[in-house]
Amino acid sequence: MNTADNFENLVQVVQDLSLARSLESITSIVRTAARKLTGADGATFVLLDDNRCYYADEDAIAPLWKGGRFPVESCISGWAMLNRQHVVIEDIYADSRIPHDLYKPTFVKSLAMMPIRKANPIGVIGTYWAHQYVPTARELALLQSLADMTAVAIENVNLYLDLENRVSQRTAELEEARKSLEAYSHSISHDLKAPVRSIKLLAEMLSERMQELNFSDTELTRITTRMLNRADHMDALVAGLLDFARLGKHELSYTRVPMRRLAEEVGRELIEHHPDRNIHFSVNEHVPDAWGDALLIRQALQNLIGNAIKYTSKKESARIEVGGDSVDEFNWYTVTDNGAGFNEAYADKLFETFHRMHSEKDFDGIGIGLSLTKQIINRHHGKIDASAIVNEGAVFRFTLPKSSSLSYT
Ligand SMILES: Nc1ncnc2c1ncn2[C@@H]1O[C@H](COP(=O)(O)OP(=O)(O)O)[C@@H](O)[C@H]1O
Ligand SMILES: [Mg+2]
Repeated sequence: MNTADNFENLVQVVQDLSLARSLESITSIVRTAARKLTGADGATFVLLDDNRCYYADEDAIAPLWKGGRFPVESCISGWAMLNRQHVVIEDIYADSRIPHDLYKPTFVKSLAMMPIRKANPIGVIGTYWAHQYVPTARELALLQSLADMTAVAIENVNLYLDLENRVSQRTAELEEARKSLEAYSHSISHDLKAPVRSIKLLAEMLSERMQELNFSDTELTRITTRMLNRADHMDALVAGLLDFARLGKHELSYTRVPMRRLAEEVGRELIEHHPDRNIHFSVNEHVPDAWGDALLIRQALQNLIGNAIKYTSKKESARIEVGGDSVDEFNWYTVTDNGAGFNEAYADKLFETFHRMHSEKDFDGIGIGLSLTKQIINRHHGKIDASAIVNEGAVFRFTLPKSSSLSYT
């Protein structure tokens, strides 16, 4: 083989070895490369395995010892590892280090053994000839390079496998932790629901009773009103936490979601609760259908349109518009209002659980709706963001899969 060919072969081997992700693939690359680079009639890949020479793989004109395991002291690959040096034997039957009986059934007359990682060998690359032959200095140098590259590749694979193991272990632990947290928050919020309702009911009874008795103590009236408010707040919190827990468990069921009709329906339902307000609500006729879980998408729309209604409550006339269109892979949707807006510098924060930009004094709320909405959108592989101008209004923009996407079924 000429020099150019050898160089090309070596480059190819370096590339292949750098991509190897398992010991098996290294083995198969090295056994073929060893033969190709030296022009030998056979090559073996030997690994040190529990003080034995394990003949992991071979590439030869006739079978050698593939799969065999021999004590380090009684084979020539073991000798190369124990002595941390390569060995060349021109006539194997004239060398006492060779277990002649083992070689008799084979074609081998000459051999060369090159330890992998000389300082602390982990294996050997063996090359064999069917006629008496002494490899040239160049061939030995090539074999040496191959052994060096193999050592690096094995170390890489070990690191990679170790990392992969650790990642999958961590992922399993995280998943376990997530599940138990979910179950925990589900049971807590579930258990809290009844007592919170009772407190609310009792506070209502107290306040009604006080009215019946014509109770005129302003301090007591103030306390009962606050009690009712707090109980309401807690009730909403518990309901929000339950929503979270349910969302974690909910398996998405994808269907075509008629966004225009859904937004109109949700808007109408929510606005019905505010007969005294002046709200202009509209859904743009171009709003496209989406592909997703109708129940969850309805919940997301409820949160966004609900917020728009809430944060426009201080305006004489509220304008709320749902828009949307199609882009390449996704559809995008917007909910725009002319309400209180917020400081855009904190736009990302809005989607964090319990994070609120307005005080309860101005607008009541618990700070769960948007983070729930973000999770819903994320579970659909979509994105959500917001922009706003203080006192002028806010725009919430999100994406959802197109109704024709089949990849999300
Ligand atoms: N349409 C909006 N206009 C102005 N601010 C908004 C709007 N929607 C949400 N926000 C801000 O984002 C915060 C988080 O919203 P959300 O999670 O729905 O909680 P909540 O409505 O209970 O306060 C709100 O407290 C508010 O400060
Ligand atoms: Mg909200």
